[in-house]
Amino acid sequence: MTRAMTFGRRADEYDRLRPGPHPEALDRVLPVDARTVVDLAAGTGLVTRAILARPAPPAVVIAVEPDARMLARLTGAVRVRGAAEHLPLGTGSVDAVVASSAWHWFDADAATAEIARVLRPGGTLGLLWSRADPSVDWVATVRGIGNMTADGSARLSRRGFAFSLPDGYGFVDDTPEAVHVRWTRPMTRDEIAGMVCTYSGVLELDEAAQQEVFRAARARLDDLVAGPDPVDVPFETVARAWTHR
Ligand SMILES: C[S@@+](CC[C@H](N)C(=O)[O-])C[C@H]1O[C@@H](n2cnc3c(N)ncnc32)[C@H](O)[C@@H]1O
Repeated sequence: MTRAMTFGRRADEYDRLRPGPHPEALDRVLPVDARTVVDLAAGTGLVTRAILARPAPPAVVIAVEPDARMLARLTGAVRVRGAAEHLPLGTGSVDAVVASSAWHWFDADAATAEIARVLRPGGTLGLLWSRADPSVDWVATVRGIGNMTADGSARLSRRGFAFSLPDGYGFVDDTPEAVHVRWTRPMTRDEIAGMVCTYSGVLELDEAAQQEVFRAARARLDDLVAGPDPVDVPFETVARAWTHR
C-alpha cells in the first residue's frame, strides 16, 4: 500500500477527529454560483459536508476518492472512485473543483491537466489545507511525536502549504495572497492524541507503534497543556483559488 492510501486504515477516527475546512476559507475559493462541484480526494467527506451545508448548496456535488474505505463513510453526494490523475468525469463538465489537504499526494502535472480538462472555461480550482496550528508550541511538539518517518507528515503538509500549481495548463491565480483563517475547536486530550494518529507518518507504522505514538502524545499533552478537558485547539485553514481560462 502506498502512503497516500493509508488514511483508510483509520477512516472512522479520521472523520471524527480531523478538521474540515473553516467555512470562511471555503467560501473564498468556491464561487456561490457553482452548480456542479467536485470535491477531489474527498476522503470521508469533511469538505463535502461543508459544501452541502452552505446556505445555497450546489445542485450537484461529486466526491472523487480512490480509497473505498474512506468513500464508504461519505454521504449526501455522488460518490465516485477515482484519482486526481485520471478523473472519471467528462470534459468541461464541472464548474468548480476543490481539493483539501490533498494536493501533495497528487502527481501535480497529471492532476492539473485533468482538472483543466474537466472544468468548463471560467471554472475554478480551489485548494485548501487545514491543520492544527504549528506556530503554537505545544501543537508543534505533540504533532512532532507523530512525525516519525524521514519524510514526516508535518513536512509533507508544509510542502502542501507552498501552493504551487504547475504552469502551462491555463490557470490564472485569483488569490495572490492566500486566504488564511485561524479558529479553535474544543477537543479532549484523548481526541488530540487520536488526531495525531490519523496522519500518514503514523498510519504506515504497525499497530503497536501507532499505540505507542498515542501514548506518547497523550503523556506530553498532560505535561504541556494546563486545565481540564476539553482544550481549545488552535487550527488554521489556508486556501487559494485559480480560474481556468
Ligand atoms: C489527508 S486526506 C484529505 C481528505 C479530505 N479532502 C479532507 O480534507 O479531510 C488525503 C486524501 O487524498 C486521497 N488521495 C491520495 N492520493 C490521491 C490521488 N492520487 N487522487 C485523489 N485522491 C487521493 C486519500 O485517499 C485521502 O482520502
